[in-house]
Amino acid sequence: MFFEWGKEFETGVPQMDKQHKNLFKLAREFYTTLKSSNRDKAREKLLAFTDALKAHLIDEERFMEEIKFPELEDHKKLHQNLREMIEEVKEEFERNDHKAYQRSISLIMSWLFTHIKKSDKKYGEFIIHSIHGKKIR
Ligand SMILES: [Fe+2]
Ligand SMILES: [Fe+2]
Repeated sequence: MFFEWGKEFETGVPQMDKQHKNLFKLAREFYTTLKSSNRDKAREKLLAFTDALKAHLIDEERFMEEIKFPELEDHKKLHQNLREMIEEVKEEFERNDHKAYQRSISLIMSWLFTHIKKSDKKYGEFIIHSIHGKKIR
């Protein structure tokens, strides 16, 4: 199924994996609602997804600060791009521009797929290395 969660998205950090999984679920729910053509319901689902996504970015940045992740600043910049995409998709929805917001939500999801696999996984690896480092000492 579209937007399906898989092992390849695991960062190894349980609270982040839980949030990522939930984002996939909310994106699927939004897509399902689109088919029913109930606009208020679709808006509700879109906002549930974008709010959860924005909250996730804040939590994740806080988490990376806590573990003193060295690539925090670069990672924050990537999140900033996503925040702009989120605002855009909401505007497109309000303009009732179907094609635009469906394309944007797909873009956001493929952005997320790549981001989790490439960038989020790095803090998971960083944590594993720092735990091993402590054990050796
Ligand atoms: Fe991230
Ligand atoms: Fe993330």
